[in-house]
Amino acid sequence: MSEDNEKSVVRGLRDVAAAETKISYVDPAGFLYYLGYNIDDLVGSTMYTEIAYLLIHKKLPNKQELTEFSNQLYHEMYLPKEIVQSIQATPESAPPMAVLRTEVSHLGEFDPDEGDFSQAANLRRATRLIARVPMIVATLHRTRQNLPIPKPKKEYAFSKNFLYMFKGVVPDEKEASVIHRFMILHADHGFNASTFAARVTASTNSDMYSAVTSAIGTLKGPLHGGASEKVMDMLDEINLEEEVEEYIQGLLDEKKKIMGFGHRVYKAQDPRTKHLRGIVEDYCHRERSQGLYNRCMKIEQLVYQRKQIYPNVDFYAAVAMDALGVPKDFYPLFFASARVSGWVAHVIEQYEDAVLLRPKGEYIGDFNRPFVPIEKR
Ligand code: ACO
Repeated sequence: MSEDNEKSVVRGLRDVAAAETKISYVDPAGFLYYLGYNIDDLVGSTMYTEIAYLLIHKKLPNKQELTEFSNQLYHEMYLPKEIVQSIQATPESAPPMAVLRTEVSHLGEFDPDEGDFSQAANLRRATRLIARVPMIVATLHRTRQNLPIPKPKKEYAFSKNFLYMFKGVVPDEKEASVIHRFMILHADHGFNASTFAARVTASTNSDMYSAVTSAIGTLKGPLHGGASEKVMDMLDEINLEEEVEEYIQGLLDEKKKIMGFGHRVYKAQDPRTKHLRGIVEDYCHRERSQGLYNRCMKIEQLVYQRKQIYPNVDFYAAVAMDALGVPKDFYPLFFASARVSGWVAHVIEQYEDAVLLRPKGEYIGDFNRPFVPIEKR
């Protein structure tokens, strides 16, 4: 066996740094930084639009830049009619994440900057995707409800417009605050699986739509963005607070994963959780949300007692989504609607790095097996 073939597999690429990045840092000690800013300083003091700008332009906008960027987003908040028709033609049985994945890919066919890979074109494309991924989500939801989609309002912030177009009802101040914070907290997160998938695609110099399509396919899995939907399945199955202990113990006895818990990087609490827990505690007082919140608190205590594992972002995000009236199968689509700003920022950074991401596999199969013609097999 050559030296190159010596055992060198890092299972799950755990702790492997695949590239340098300035976009975000996931500190195992329980901190998260966007372009060097601690998210604790950003949540509550900024709007999602500022964070999307920060991620792709690598600086916080001043007032004029924010107004210009908000206008750019507003003008991109529509879909080509072919995309709307395609969404309307999807079968009711199609999972919403599958529709989003397909329609983002489809959007790539209508790119006015097709063939232009300049930095300016990439920034325009990034802005367009940040605006249009949520448009696909809102259009799909309204279509499935047989209801028209309202037009965005110029005076609304981007995330408020998104919720307005999704629900067809003007969000009140509290709801607008929940969606701003939710989107800020989900905007980026280092080399998570979906971002890595986007960067691998971008590393072949493929286009941004292909990279975001790869990311959405990756986010869809229940070990990643699909977890919040599974969290709500669990919360729905546990009807009463008194049932929590038996339910959780049952999962642990069967060595099953508890959805919304654990993290590859954080060895301490996921810093996003305290904000989401706070959001849920402050704003989600409807009877159902309060019950869900109480069950969450009990689950959090129990899982820590038994396994010393903390909840991740998806745990309380599920309750926040429920309180906003978002159906379960749309939770990961809200995640994608925020994370797209991180994905496109990473795609641009990967283009700048200009290196093909191509690991090797540790071959453990046979060599020189005797070939047997088909008639003799
Ligand atoms: N429930 C119970 N035990 C868990 C959980 C969990 N959710 N997460 C980790 N553990 C345990 C494992 O069983 C393992 O224990 P062991 O050493 O006794 O065998 C130990 O903690 C390490 O777990 P790994 O699975 O090796 O951790 P890894 O880094 O590979 O996985 C992951 C991280 C995928 C997030 C995992 O914690 C998990 O499956 N969680 C549930 C799904 C989830 O919530 N995903 C969302 C992640 S955040 C996001 O994508 C936005």
